[in-house]
Amino acid sequence: MTKQAFITKSIIPVAGLGTRSLPASKTIPKEMLPVHDKPTVQYIVEEAVNSGLEHIVFITNRDKKSIEDHFDYNLQLEALLAEKNKPELLKAVRDVAEYISIVSIRQKQQKGLGHAILCAKDFIHDEYFAVMLGDDLFFSPVPGIRQLMDVAVQTGKSVIGVMEVEESNVSKYGIIDPIVVDDTDSMIYKVRNIVEKPKQHEAPSRLAVVGRYVLSDKIFDYLETISPSVDGEIQLTDAIQRMAQNEGVLAVKIQGERFDAGDRIEYLLANIHFALQDERLAEQLTTRLLSMLQK
Ligand code: G1P
Repeated sequence: MTKQAFITKSIIPVAGLGTRSLPASKTIPKEMLPVHDKPTVQYIVEEAVNSGLEHIVFITNRDKKSIEDHFDYNLQLEALLAEKNKPELLKAVRDVAEYISIVSIRQKQQKGLGHAILCAKDFIHDEYFAVMLGDDLFFSPVPGIRQLMDVAVQTGKSVIGVMEVEESNVSKYGIIDPIVVDDTDSMIYKVRNIVEKPKQHEAPSRLAVVGRYVLSDKIFDYLETISPSVDGEIQLTDAIQRMAQNEGVLAVKIQGERFDAGDRIEYLLANIHFALQDERLAEQLTTRLLSMLQK
């Protein structure tokens, strides 16, 4: 059996400062800000669960304790909800503690995304693993990370998730220089090159890395040897670039809708989008939105 046949672990980095969400994130981790009725990080964990992943490693810091608590039992609250006969709420708060096995590792210094992933090295053995970034929320029939896992299992390669972005937005992302491998049902590319946050005129394409990765444990060798680059940080993108040159990396265009929860407008749109999926709210919300827009 090859090592990529089973992908069971996902790293979810949650140690970022969340400056884009200030002042809302001054005392609340940005990952705990709600989209509709759940914290954003719960969408990411549910995507992992729905993709068949079994273990989550949060890369966290001293200010993010509430994230761990959210995925733990709260016996006092559960007793109160049972006493007040609120079975649906009781189920909602208990389920979240029973989703999946979770461990947390502290990133003691803010040295970038690459460094955050490196903090999980001892938890990953001779295997492929997922990385899921908390700002990118997907709404798709097949969960975003599952789309990458399927290609990684089929090909035995590391795979990164990409989507097309506006030309004016390329400098917010890692951008790939793609070679088309398969343009049938799902678009698959070979990564010739990948650049972190290029200037608009230097971007090799409009295909941006959208916070989902399936990587071989070999990535740690590259992360250990690269130097800080963009923003003085150890960039995951630079390690992927080395890996692409030495052993090949694929990119898959993720099918579905994506919301960047760190962006003001997209955060609001994500709230509306997920609330419209809730049949208890959809009709009334639509009426109110339409009347608001007509004013
Ligand atoms: C990170 C990555 C970048 C990627 C982006 C996706 O950047 O470094 O390559 O495109 O996530 O959300 P950040 O948003 O943390 O600056």
